[in-house]
Formats: sequence, C-alpha cells, structure tokens
Amino acid sequence: MKAIVLNHPLIQHKLSIIREKKTGTKEFREIIGEIATFLCYEAMSDADLKEIEIETPICSTKTKRLNEEKYAFVPILRAGTGMLDGLIKTIPNAKIGHVGLYRNEETLKPVRYYYKMPRDIQDREVIVLDPMLATGGSAIDTITMLKEDGVKKIKFLCIIAAPEGIKKLEELHPDVQIYAAAMDEKLNDMGYIVPGLGDAGDRIFGTK
Ligand code: PRP
Ligand code: URA
Repeated sequence: MKAIVLNHPLIQHKLSIIREKKTGTKEFREIIGEIATFLCYEAMSDADLKEIEIETPICSTKTKRLNEEKYAFVPILRAGTGMLDGLIKTIPNAKIGHVGLYRNEETLKPVRYYYKMPRDIQDREVIVLDPMLATGGSAIDTITMLKEDGVKKIKFLCIIAAPEGIKKLEELHPDVQIYAAAMDEKLNDMGYIVPGLGDAGDRIFGTK
C-alpha cells in the first residue's frame, strides 16, 4: 500500500509552526493534537458504517453510525501519546494500548520496555500513533508485536515521515497503510529527520 501524505494547505501551515525551533511546548503540543485529528479523519475514510433507525425532532429516518467498539489506538511511548487526545476526540469509545520503545542513540535500534494491550485487541482495527517515522525501527517493532498478538488490520499515523522509514515499513509490513502529514527529505547521520522538527518527545514534554 502506498503511503498517504496529506498535503492540505492548513496542515502545511500548522507544520510550519511546529517545525520552527522557537515554538514553545504548549503550542507544539496543541498542534500535534490538531494534526492527529486530521490524520484520523483521513484514516477513517474507509470505515464501515452500520445503518440504524432514529427519531429526529421531525420524523423517523435511517442514518449511519460507526461501530466505535471496533477500534484501538496504540501510541508508541513517549511521543505517540501526544497524538492521543486528537484521536480520542474523534472516536471517544476506542480502547487504548501502549507500547514503550526508545531508540538507542548509537545503534538507532528500538529498545522495548513496555507492552500493554486491551484484552480483545485481536478483534479490533488498530491505529498506531507516533509523530516521527525515521528509520522505521520503532514502527516496525510495534507492528510486529501487534501481529504476534493476532491483530489483523493495522494503520500507522505519523506527523512527519522520512522516505527511508516509509520504504522500510512498506517492505516489512506491506499490508499496513501509512498516513503522514508530511514526507521530508531524508535522515541525517544521527537518524534525525531533515528538515523535521527535532526530537518530538522532548518538544511535547519539554524535557530539553
Ligand atoms: C522517537 C519517535 C519514534 C522514534 C522514531 O522516539 O517518537 O518513536 O524516535 O525513530 P525510528 O523510526 O528511527 O525508530 P524516541 O526514541 O526519541 O523516544 P521518546 O518518544 O521516548 O522521546
Ligand atoms: N525521532 C524524533 O523525535 N525526531 C526525529 O527526527 C527522528 C526520530
């Protein structure tokens, strides 16, 4: 599946604010949440709806509703949790699992430290959240763990993706649809996305 990159002017405008290094934690966090909401709208464009009958103040009519019980969001700790509020706004009854991973700064390989999923995760469509898709290691590891747990349908939502990360994720998990607000130029020697926005976790939580 080809990665879907949202090139909407409003998203480009919001991205321009969070890319700027002088943007503070509060604004950075708010915009990450807003872009996450836009990504969720796009990712839900193939959602199944069930027909129900309701009463409006005027008459009875048939309408369509989402089966919210079908979904789970899985943020990759830490930075993925910054996207969570934006998604919960759109599907408030989705369940939430957490995966804890950090990149070893020398090898750039993900190191696992936490994994906790809803009991019925294998019956849900899972939407994995992480603002940055750099080498792809963190996303690939998370998706592998979810598949080992029996999850059949997975989508991956990120704010900025590097071409290297998209290529690797598409190679190893071709069934997973990637949604990104932007695809940047490349990775630098330290594994950071260029031009990117720096360390997403540090900027969301104000740790540097
Ligand atoms: C960042 C980011 C991703 C990962 C992406 O996390 O949030 O999880 O790097 O890089 P990759 O595609 O090369 O794996 P980081 O390791 O900085 O941890 P943090 O979220 O706790 O800050
Ligand atoms: N993780 C980040 O937070 N930023 C990058 O540019 C790459 C990985």
